[in-house]
Amino acid sequence: MDILECINSKRSIRAYTDEIIPEETLNNIIKLGTKASTGSGQEPWGFVVIQDKDEIDSLSEITKKYLLENMEKYPYLNQYESWLTNPRFSVFNHANTLLIIYGNTESHWHVYDCSLAAGNIMLAAHSMGIGTCWIGFAEHTLNTKEFKGKYNVPEQYELVCPMSIGYMKAKLAPPNRKKPIIFNK
Ligand SMILES: Cc1cc2nc3c(=O)[nH]c(=O)nc-3n(C[C@H](O)[C@H](O)[C@H](O)COP(=O)(O)O)c2cc1C
Repeated sequence: MDILECINSKRSIRAYTDEIIPEETLNNIIKLGTKASTGSGQEPWGFVVIQDKDEIDSLSEITKKYLLENMEKYPYLNQYESWLTNPRFSVFNHANTLLIIYGNTESHWHVYDCSLAAGNIMLAAHSMGIGTCWIGFAEHTLNTKEFKGKYNVPEQYELVCPMSIGYMKAKLAPPNRKKPIIFNK
């Protein structure tokens, strides 16, 4: 897929087929993520890949419970209350793969760097017919000491991007965006 077409047509995908993304393909996508530029060339990222559906479903339930119990801390969540109380709703869109990006806080630019890597990953995946969705809902649950300990994430790494990823069930129309504001025009 041509790079401009890829950028122009990439959407957040929330419906996936059951097909598991092979390890080699995932590793290739992650490697393409790491081609992103980084402040002072630090490459301050680390990744966790989870392909255990039961674990992902359980993390979704833990996340929903946490968010519903802490709604007051996250005013933006009010608009999503009906999603979170729906027993069929999966925070991770029923994906069978989670790809999580952590940034090394020892680098001043880790959030920007990991976000650029996430963008690369999303575009690379899209070009292969693989859909992704940034899951901001999981910002707390995938960054706890307990979770990071379970997946060998060193203490100085903080969550930047939780992502559901899987082969797209259907292609979506290209995004419609507001006209960009150019302040000096
Ligand atoms: C920082 C960030 C957090 C997001 N969190 C969620 C989320 O928790 N759940 C979800 O379904 N989509 C999430 N999204 C996806 C956005 O809802 C989506 O990008 C936006 O509605 C525009 O749609 P598009 O990506 O298909 O163009 C998030 C996107 C970003 C960049």
